[in-house]
Amino acid sequence: MQKTQEYIQSNKEKFVGELTDLLRIPSVSADPAFAKDVVKTAGSIANHLRTAGAENVEICETKGYPIVYGDKMIDPNLPTVLVYGHYDVQPADPLELWENPAFEPVVKKTDIHPEGAIFARGACDDKGQMFMHVKAFEAMMAADELPCNVKFMIEGEEEVGSLNLGVFVAANHEKLAADIILVSDTGMLANDVPSITTGLRGLSYVEVEVTGPNRDLHSGLYGGCVANPINILAEMIASLHDEDEKINIPNFYDDVVELSTGERAEMAKAPFSHEAYCKSIDIADVHGEKGYSTPERGSIRPTLDVNGIWGGYIGEGAKTVIASKAYAKISMRLVPNQDPNKITQLFQKHFESLAPKSVKVKVMPHHGGEPAVTPIDSIGYEAASMAYEQSFGKKPIPVRSGGSIPIVSMFEKELGLKTVLMGFGLDSDAIHSPNEHFGLFNYYKGIETIPYFYRHFTKLSK
Ligand code: BES
Ligand code: MN
Ligand code: MN
Repeated sequence: MQKTQEYIQSNKEKFVGELTDLLRIPSVSADPAFAKDVVKTAGSIANHLRTAGAENVEICETKGYPIVYGDKMIDPNLPTVLVYGHYDVQPADPLELWENPAFEPVVKKTDIHPEGAIFARGACDDKGQMFMHVKAFEAMMAADELPCNVKFMIEGEEEVGSLNLGVFVAANHEKLAADIILVSDTGMLANDVPSITTGLRGLSYVEVEVTGPNRDLHSGLYGGCVANPINILAEMIASLHDEDEKINIPNFYDDVVELSTGERAEMAKAPFSHEAYCKSIDIADVHGEKGYSTPERGSIRPTLDVNGIWGGYIGEGAKTVIASKAYAKISMRLVPNQDPNKITQLFQKHFESLAPKSVKVKVMPHHGGEPAVTPIDSIGYEAASMAYEQSFGKKPIPVRSGGSIPIVSMFEKELGLKTVLMGFGLDSDAIHSPNEHFGLFNYYKGIETIPYFYRHFTKLSK
């Protein structure tokens, strides 16, 4: 892979320039106002794949945003790597909190990224990380060192639930036949502590509506006599955790797989600094389920969090009113073997039962996703581990992540394939937040590491 690595070293500036252009297109899948830009991004990725040397490049239409496909099959007897990534991004708001506009990328140095980082929405999640694969492929092709077959499947609806990807995968088993799925859409512990993600949490997401009186009321005339839906909603939400911060929904923990003492001890070996953690997000202390460490709370334990809450008067000054309705959006992060549909039902039943007779309650489920764990005793993991060791000079540690990529479990069910999660982002990269960025070090290291994975995976597959 000497020539591949040389090609990468001499094309770093070009790689940054191309990613910068890609980041200029605001491919926000959640907001229809950006529909044209999302589609344009798909076209741009298709062009990049073609230029890099991919064949059969296709913009596959779906009921939503297209999926970009491309492949390079060099020998049916060699293994096939299926690369998955997403070109859509989260909305950029609140816009006023960006130091530079979200879709006008700039490179700036930070304490954690002394070599510089690209600041833009999608820089890390997932345009930057997805693009590393296109560039690594380009390098292997240019050097004539591609060691196995490769297929790309880059979607544009990950941030809104990947609903059409499920349909596409179900209808294209043969087209997508492969030996392993390779994804860079997660993170690692630190630039000098490489890690490989071995698990993702699932997700159950609901919206709730509490209705009191049929219209907003004068809070003097009616206050004290009728249920205030905002007060009631706040009480209902407060009751969802007990004093140990356990989730107070009957049967919620029934299917949770508890880790063995040995597994927990293994986890505890990964470096974690309470002080640095608190400092990085400016909190005086952490908060969470009794009996578990912060890394455990954030990965192997389920959660329930209000993501948004609204109702009543929030304009200038004071308006004395009892609102007719109150709302909240609530997410539950799930762990193996919790089933998102079952958890949503448990939530619904319990939440409805909490409501006093004086209000009506509606629970509306949103998209969810299943948790996933990836094996560490597999050639996929072994190949990834060897690849990191080669490019970082250190063996990576396996780490379970708290985030969700629902399609990972879907791939396993539909295609019978395991996924290797080779993420190169950092938690401090502010994905989904203002000032999202991706370190140049991380971008280059990703591009360097991926070809090594291909080679080790091909060798280990024999
Ligand atoms: N790439 C993230 C998930 C992620 C980030 C996993 C970092 C592990 C580490 C993905 O784009 C994402 O944001 N997923 C959503 C779920 C989806 C259904 C909207 C999430 O985790 O909230
Ligand atoms: Mn992502
Ligand atoms: Mn995301």
